[in-house]
Amino acid sequence: MGFDLKARLAERQAASLYRRRPLLQSPQGPQVIVDGQPLLAFSSNDYLGLANHPEVVAAWRAGAERWGVGGGASHLVIGHSGPHHELELALAELTGRPRALLFTTGYMANLGAITALVGQGDTVLQDRLNHASLLDAGLLSGARFSRYLHNDAQSLASRLAKAQGNTLVVTDGVFSMDGDVANLPALARAAQAQGAWLMVDDAHGFGTLGRSGGGVAEHFGLGIDALPVLVGTLGKAFGTAGAFVAGSEELIETLIQFARPYIYTTSQPPALACATLKSLELVRAEHWRRQHLAALIAQFRTGARRIGLQLLDSPTPIQPIVLGDAARALQLSQWLRERGVMVGAIRPPTVPAGSARLRVTLTASHTAEQVDHLLVLLAEGYASLEPTHA
Ligand SMILES: Cc1ncc(COP(=O)(O)O)c(C=O)c1O
Repeated sequence: MGFDLKARLAERQAASLYRRRPLLQSPQGPQVIVDGQPLLAFSSNDYLGLANHPEVVAAWRAGAERWGVGGGASHLVIGHSGPHHELELALAELTGRPRALLFTTGYMANLGAITALVGQGDTVLQDRLNHASLLDAGLLSGARFSRYLHNDAQSLASRLAKAQGNTLVVTDGVFSMDGDVANLPALARAAQAQGAWLMVDDAHGFGTLGRSGGGVAEHFGLGIDALPVLVGTLGKAFGTAGAFVAGSEELIETLIQFARPYIYTTSQPPALACATLKSLELVRAEHWRRQHLAALIAQFRTGARRIGLQLLDSPTPIQPIVLGDAARALQLSQWLRERGVMVGAIRPPTVPAGSARLRVTLTASHTAEQVDHLLVLLAEGYASLEPTHA
């Protein structure tokens, strides 16, 4: 009787699925110190290299001096301060939507938007590789929940034909563990044909895709009719923290009334919004960051193909190397780490069984020489892997 946590943990360990937290002892950047060891890291979602940018840090400091540190209360009480409001206006402008609403995290934005929009008697349809926060929100909403085949508008259309009530189609914009880009024009057409709404979580596309970093919506030129619910997060390319939902006046007012993860939580520190305002400025103005990143992505893909690595169809900074078995992914990650390079092993349940991988992420702060170094080690490390028995 009782909770046998020891057995549960031992089982996870035996399946090579045990998680450990690397202890970061330096700021984000390509050269880090982890657990006392200097490493060249290809593991961060700080895609544009803004998490430790001096101007963003200075904006944070100035924000704290002007506004203090804590948000103090929820937005609906007395926690909605000037910088939050200004940031919402700037995010609405970036996305070309009438309004945007700031959330404390992306997880909460997804939970808030989905549960506010659909409930019992409605339908939520999701890509089977969607981020956990979207899947959790779908379950929590109480709506009928079905997953369509990955990035497959036909599979979506067949589910749409059977949908009941208000129907929300939900997809990652850039898939977080695969790096591929959702086929939004086709998904939007399928949704619109059935009067369903499309919601895109563009956590990994904002900042990196689109001429001004406006993400997949800008990349495909999708306006509010095709894409009524647009979610972005601020902890990745923007280098800070938090998230937002952008859309119509009515959508945002609906979320303010009904999105529980918006209503029942303290607002993020206003100084954080000051920092994000600065990083937003850099995201929009400094095109060279996206250009440099694109060059590194091309360099990595060409080099990886040359050494026979199996890549996914990803034009983004997320470049996974699928190894199949969790133990192999751990083995290669460990091998690299012993040689001073950090690339995280991603295993089930984060990815489907049999598709464990190394998730290489490139950032605008990496140099071409660092990417070459990674490729040289990957060639050697991959060749040294024991063959799969599966
Ligand atoms: C696709 C996607 N959506 C949402 C989130 C959650 O965002 P946050 O870290 O701000 O909670 C993440 C990762 O963190 C993500 O990869």
